[in-house]
Amino acid sequence: MKEKNYKISNVQQDDVSTLYDLQNKYIAHPYCKEEFVMDITTTRHHYFVCKKDSNILGFVSFVDNIDSVDILQIVVDEKYRRANVATQLMDNVKSYCISHNIKNIFLEVRQDNDAKYFYEKYGFTLINVRKKYYGDQDALIYQLKL
Ligand SMILES: CC(C)(COP(=O)(O)OP(=O)(O)OC[C@H]1O[C@@H](n2cnc3c(N)ncnc32)[C@H](O)[C@@H]1OP(=O)(O)O)[C@@H](O)C(=O)NCCC(=O)NCCS
Repeated sequence: MKEKNYKISNVQQDDVSTLYDLQNKYIAHPYCKEEFVMDITTTRHHYFVCKKDSNILGFVSFVDNIDSVDILQIVVDEKYRRANVATQLMDNVKSYCISHNIKNIFLEVRQDNDAKYFYEKYGFTLINVRKKYYGDQDALIYQLKL
């Protein structure tokens, strides 16, 4: 069921192992534990976590490059998909950008990943294709201008 008001907050230390498990389960090339934990503690990296009661439904991670933001990962537990969780996570990234006067969000996704439909629905525009970037698959580069 679609909800308008999931609880979205900055990552807490207690969330780390669930986020790590989620990206391991649903991302084709997940970060290893050391990279993941290091990211969480780096000031340029940000994580927003979506929760309902004490359950983690999904998260988004991004890097603040001062003049733009790069989305690193956006993952929603399959039990909670198509219920606007990713949309609300992305809304929070957008609000972050607006409050930091950042005008562009960029991301890269494998051509065969259906996440591209989410990005397109959200308003991202395809700006570049890196041919065979992933061996057999192209990388699609998307931009959202704010
Ligand atoms: C991509 C992903 C984050 C979307 O999360 P979500 O919470 O289900 O997305 P939303 O409910 O906010 O979707 C909003 C709209 O985007 C579009 N959309 C989302 N997922 C879609 C899919 N798999 N296929 C087609 N359209 C899709 C739909 O238009 C949807 O609206 P609708 O449900 O009313 O039709 C989720 O499928 C996921 O975690 N995928 C695996 C991880 C991954 O590959 N992440 C990207 C690379 S890091």
